[in-house]
Amino acid sequence: MSGGPTVQITDSMDTVNEVNDENVEDIVDPWTVQSSNAKGVDYDKLIKRFGSSKIDESLLNRFEKIAASRGQKVHPFIKRGLFFSHRDLDHILSLHEQGKHFYLYTGRGPSSAAMHMGHLIPFMTTRYLQKLFDVPVVIQLTDDEKFLWKDLQLEECFGLSRENTKDIIACGFDPEKTFIFSDLSYIGSCKEFYWNMKRIEKLVTFNQVKGIFGFGDSDCIGKISFPAIQAAPSFSSSFPHIFNGRTDIPCLIPCAIDQDPYFRMTRDVAPRLHLSKPALMHSVFFPALQGAQTKMSASDPTSSVFLTDTLAQIKKKINKYAFSGGRDTIEEHRKYGGDCEVDVSFQYLQFFLDDDDELEQIRKDYSSGALLTGELKQKLIKILQELVGHHQAERAKVTEEVINYFWRTDKYACSEKYPPLPKGSDKKKKKKGTPKTKEATDEIGNLKVTRETT
Ligand code: TRP
Repeated sequence: MSGGPTVQITDSMDTVNEVNDENVEDIVDPWTVQSSNAKGVDYDKLIKRFGSSKIDESLLNRFEKIAASRGQKVHPFIKRGLFFSHRDLDHILSLHEQGKHFYLYTGRGPSSAAMHMGHLIPFMTTRYLQKLFDVPVVIQLTDDEKFLWKDLQLEECFGLSRENTKDIIACGFDPEKTFIFSDLSYIGSCKEFYWNMKRIEKLVTFNQVKGIFGFGDSDCIGKISFPAIQAAPSFSSSFPHIFNGRTDIPCLIPCAIDQDPYFRMTRDVAPRLHLSKPALMHSVFFPALQGAQTKMSASDPTSSVFLTDTLAQIKKKINKYAFSGGRDTIEEHRKYGGDCEVDVSFQYLQFFLDDDDELEQIRKDYSSGALLTGELKQKLIKILQELVGHHQAERAKVTEEVINYFWRTDKYACSEKYPPLPKGSDKKKKKKGTPKTKEATDEIGNLKVTRETT
């Protein structure tokens, strides 16, 4: 456990005494993901609870059009609904269609050197979006967060930021348009970032962060102000070396849905700072090997396929631990077929098997019993071995100089695209850029949060 508070966000219809299996809420917050259902978290319910929107057919069609116009395809993570929810993504697509600017922001809390497959999802997606839209990316490494939450020294957290940077670079980001930064290193060097933090801190009360994150009286004060640090990169003025002090470049954040509380808070303060609310794209969790009730966790080695695993370890882990939706005996399996909805190997294939037709054939054959669990696992092992092998080869190429290049804070060549606005012209523009969503002041207020007693 991270030692973070365990909060359960419930919707206002919930009545405390009516708890049975059907009604037990999934726990989803930045520290805990737990569902009592073998199929995993009920994501439709989560959209309602969090007040976000579904990435629906019409949005996918717009993505298709944009991708086609650039000779590309929609990434399987997006097309297959693994990014299932959003806030104002339609607005970002409109900006792109009108030839206007935006940038991408994502991040990682560097708590261990061993990253696993699940950690790759937001980075692979962000890299894809960077290529599709040709936009800058900022990647926050919250080593300060890990210092506060984990039993680690500052030096260790900072070292992990550098280690993890290698894995992030290995995903293929454009070195000319990507800024990877450690909070412990960058914030002290950038007045504009720090000033944005202060502006945010002034607008959020202790009561509100208690409500959103479940902080309590015995949490250290560092944790209480941390959300402002994760919020600050949502505003372009936090990166003067890329955006020349421009405050009006909108931001899109691809992340797993457990990070949404930070950005609900950010979206609540943005209009009060006369800034655009960041848009979001939320992904499902990458299931643990043992099943979709929880996500992969680096602290449980048997739950995860690590990016450092050998090919033999990958094979062994999938064969031994990947929860199977197959039947107990071959006879029964042939007769009744397997259950793709709970089968972890099938779910991983949904992430990493690119060929839609092949995936559909596997789904049919496994469900009918024509394909056995061992055969299904074999297909997955091959794909994961290729992916991890490729990742390891790319990571090995990342030298200290390459890390330094991605961490640099001198002017970016792409900053020419963002000429400073004439003084005073900011304000009107900012207002226009802010999408008129009804939840302007609602995003904190409408959440009822109960603390779990453990
Ligand atoms: N808090 C996140 C974690 O622990 C790291 C993070 C910082 C992040 N900024 C982000 C994740 C923006 C997604 C998007 O992993």
